[in-house]
Amino acid sequence: MGRIHNFSAGPACLPEAVLREAAAEMLDYRSSGMSVMEMSHRGAVFEGIIQEAEKDLRDLAGIPEDYAVLFLQGGASLQFSMVPMNLSKNGKADFINTGVWAAKAAEEAAKYLDVRVAATGEGEHFSRIPSLAGLALRPDADYVHLCQNNTIYGTRFEALPDTGDIPLVSDMSSCILSEPLDVRRFGLIYAGAQKNMGIAGLTMVIVRKDLIREHLPGFVPLMMRYDTHLKAHSLYNTPPSYAIYIFGKVLKWLKGLGGLEAMAQINRRKAGILYDYLDQSALFKATAAPGSRSLMNITFVTGDKALDTEFVKGAEAAGLSGLKGHRLVGGMRASLYNAMTIEGVEALVDYMASFERART
Ligand SMILES: Cc1ncc(COP(=O)(O)O)c(C=O)c1O
Repeated sequence: MGRIHNFSAGPACLPEAVLREAAAEMLDYRSSGMSVMEMSHRGAVFEGIIQEAEKDLRDLAGIPEDYAVLFLQGGASLQFSMVPMNLSKNGKADFINTGVWAAKAAEEAAKYLDVRVAATGEGEHFSRIPSLAGLALRPDADYVHLCQNNTIYGTRFEALPDTGDIPLVSDMSSCILSEPLDVRRFGLIYAGAQKNMGIAGLTMVIVRKDLIREHLPGFVPLMMRYDTHLKAHSLYNTPPSYAIYIFGKVLKWLKGLGGLEAMAQINRRKAGILYDYLDQSALFKATAAPGSRSLMNITFVTGDKALDTEFVKGAEAAGLSGLKGHRLVGGMRASLYNAMTIEGVEALVDYMASFERART
């Protein structure tokens, strides 16, 4: 069987060119006589890989010098704990609740901080981002946390709240590098690599350096302190070296496409193809409200659970995989991360149209 169209929410599809290059270098990375998986993270070859990846990320995303780039592990989920442990000064943080991941981040932070939910989309089943007009933030909050793209509900912030001097912390796990990024709007950005940047095992943190504090409560583990990793240039312990190598390749691929603006245009086009189809369909319905719709995770239903199941099964047989919605919400979800091709989205819409024709 050849490669199929993979709409999984993560780990997710990678650019085929990246996989081919990695395959070609698997046994002997650039005459080192070994795979990147096998080499010391303290050697010159790997140091070159990690430094080039950081440089390429800084170029692509326009990351200023006063922001640190940290290559960590533990997934975005570990950041739910590291952010409150490291950013707390007054012991307070405000959260915007846009669904499961945002709520998990708040729940974890509440173990260490006084957490207040400043806005929530719960009343509308998280089908839209709550209104940010008149958002009441505590002036002495240490940070405001949001989840910029909600992987499960298929929503995203089209505009960010104005948090004034309060640092904004964003979970960008499912949208990072999908469009240009104004890093200065944020105190801290975090994301797991396995959706838009590579493979599982690597977590990226971009943080304004002045927010990294040295005086932290004694209970904070050394491995969970940002200053540990900053001082060691992300080489305090063995890093996820192969994931960093793949990340570097994904960045080169993005640069080759023309960077984040070019990527954003392609992503808008891909999402447009699917939303346009959904909005005229008599059978399928997008679940996210216009104005809050994700470009990365597009959620939809038929309104009939048995029909949803039949659709997902038929799609799988047609080479369109990973379309089952998250178990908490059901329905369908097509994840159109950077590496998903336009042909993949067209194949999905063709299949949806034939499924619909057969039932109407
Ligand atoms: C928005 C968001 N935040 C956090 C997570 C958890 O990430 P991880 O599995 O890397 O801990 C996910 C996973 O899908 C996610 O989509």
